[in-house]
Amino acid sequence: MKSATGPVGYPRDGLPEISFLGRSNVGKSSLINSLLGVRQLARTSSTPGRTQLINFFLINEALYFVDLPGYGYARAPVDVKRQWGPMVEQYLATRPNLVLSILISDLRHEPTRLDLQMKEWLSSRGKPFIIVATKADKLSGNQLKVSLSRGARVLDGAEMIPYSAVTRKGADRIWKEITKRTVEA
Ligand code: GTP
Ligand code: MG
Repeated sequence: MKSATGPVGYPRDGLPEISFLGRSNVGKSSLINSLLGVRQLARTSSTPGRTQLINFFLINEALYFVDLPGYGYARAPVDVKRQWGPMVEQYLATRPNLVLSILISDLRHEPTRLDLQMKEWLSSRGKPFIIVATKADKLSGNQLKVSLSRGARVLDGAEMIPYSAVTRKGADRIWKEITKRTVEA
């Protein structure tokens, strides 16, 4: 629908917004596409740093999915890195339409200090959020268990919803959370 770097570019129709955030390359854009059952609505890439603007996707004229640029991409150009913090923080901190943030982590890797900081920032500001752990299809059943409990430990006991953009396993639980914050709100 539209892309923005700041408030002048945000939609003005007052609809609720669900934001997707996490480290670069964790699968934010893939999660958006697979929840909607469409390919490449949000552009995905095996190269980190694909998403560099705040992208708003209008869903059924009822809500927006907001694809945020990933953080912690070490090789991003300096001006991109300098812009990331203020651009994303301004959106998360000031946007009244934001009803839920989906913090995404890659099950194959232990959540980082940045993930923990992001989670604590959201909690401390009373921003509703859920944590989704992606790429579950890349792990065996036992690896999945180990990785989920390791993630919960690193993220201070937070619950993680396992998800795969390939099989869409976990989509129902995520949609339930989204519906709770939008339709029923
Ligand atoms: P940036 O916009 O660069 O921050 O990345 P992103 O978080 O939007 O990640 P993106 O969706 O572009 O996915 C990164 C890579 O991971 C792509 O090659 C995807 O195909 C792959 N990927 C994402 N989710 C999954 C998943 O659930 N399973 C598997 N097997 N691959 C995935
Ligand atoms: Mg992306």
